[in-house]
Amino acid sequence: APHREAERGGGQQTLERVPLELSTTESWLDPFDWYAEMRENHPVRYDERRRVWDVFRYADAARILSDPMTFSSDPTRATELDLPEPEARGPLFETMLTSDGSRHDRLRGVVEESFRPRSLVPRAPHIRDVADDLLDDVVDRGEMDLIADFAYPLPVVVIAELLGVPTEDRPTFKRWSDTLVETPADTSEAGLEAFARERRRVDDELRAYFEAILDDRRTDPRDDLVSDIVHAESDGETLSHEEAVGFCILLLVAGNVTTTNLLGNAVRCLTAHPDAMARLAADPTLTTTAVEEVLRYRSPVQALVRVATRDVELAGADVHTGDAVVPWLGSANRDPAVFDAPDEFRIDRTPNSHLGFGRGTHYCLGAPLARLEARIALEQLFARVTDVERASTELDPVRSAFIYGVRSFPIRYRAHP
Ligand code: HEM
Repeated sequence: APHREAERGGGQQTLERVPLELSTTESWLDPFDWYAEMRENHPVRYDERRRVWDVFRYADAARILSDPMTFSSDPTRATELDLPEPEARGPLFETMLTSDGSRHDRLRGVVEESFRPRSLVPRAPHIRDVADDLLDDVVDRGEMDLIADFAYPLPVVVIAELLGVPTEDRPTFKRWSDTLVETPADTSEAGLEAFARERRRVDDELRAYFEAILDDRRTDPRDDLVSDIVHAESDGETLSHEEAVGFCILLLVAGNVTTTNLLGNAVRCLTAHPDAMARLAADPTLTTTAVEEVLRYRSPVQALVRVATRDVELAGADVHTGDAVVPWLGSANRDPAVFDAPDEFRIDRTPNSHLGFGRGTHYCLGAPLARLEARIALEQLFARVTDVERASTELDPVRSAFIYGVRSFPIRYRAHP
């Protein structure tokens, strides 16, 4: 197999490739002019290179997400995508995110209750303490990297505690998550092979890590999500072992990278709009709508993937059974057909029916948690510091075809007396 290895490397690539138009740093940091042009002139287009349909208008994206019978979330139904061989797919192929119909509902049902707003209310004071502890370490310094010092550790600690895994394993989680969401930097054959190998290694490590924790909770159940998952696995019907492992990994990864980027994107928006930042600092009740506006204006998830289950017409384009379709949430969220002055960042925008958390049956399970964390994080940040400004001019985007944010965001500020 060297040949086979290379095939797999290339296969893993297909879904993670960004369109050529977004392959420069500048365009991936600000794809919005390109989106505008596509919404106007090519609202649904086939990209031969990635072998997917790209969909740019709100109405079409919303229609796709609202019709899961026609647009499946299971990537293995795609005929034109080179997916990894079944034995190399890893546990993330077995989750609610990539399932349809009753299987999806069964999986989602296992943890749905724990993510409802009312289940999360009792956690708010603790999340505030975690945020404050992180800020204690950096407030007097007058500068920090918003990502490394605040936006990354906060959600990771929160989700690790919910799951019931040791928060000290944080640096390892980061390496794992980065490998799972990022696109290979080196696209030579050797580079792709190394990337695919690293990804399989991370799959194996994650599996071993969660198998040990699942084992532990089997004999020693606690009040945490891993114990709920073990419980659902133990009746022999609700969850298979493979699904239980995939479940843990999904919750760790989905709740982590996305919320980090929401916080990073929020402070990126606010430092670019000092008037909005001043208003928010003076009136924290605006935080709720401000978070929604960040989700719309710089959406942490820019694109999703679906597979057509029948021949269907989409804004004049003939999509065939088995074709992969990519609704661009980040573009839908700037569609002037839906949003008044879509390129203006308005922290009090209402209504704001953005697609930042998706729509329909797969609507983000963690949305209430992400909203709570983001609100608390911004409230605490502006309660403790003032005069926040960017401390570097360069920005380095997260290298991913779906996740949108910056890898670091140095800021300067003054501590409130
Ligand atoms: C699904 C975005 C935070 C767990 C989704 C989807 C989006 C999304 C767009 C839809 C995927 C699809 O339709 O294919 C975000 C954003 C977040 C965030 C922008 C933060 C700002 C979280 C958190 C968790 C979480 C904190 C929880 C740990 C999930 C899960 C799904 C999901 C499990 C799959 C739901 C399903 O398939 O039914 N998220 N998410 N997310 N999200 Fe989030």
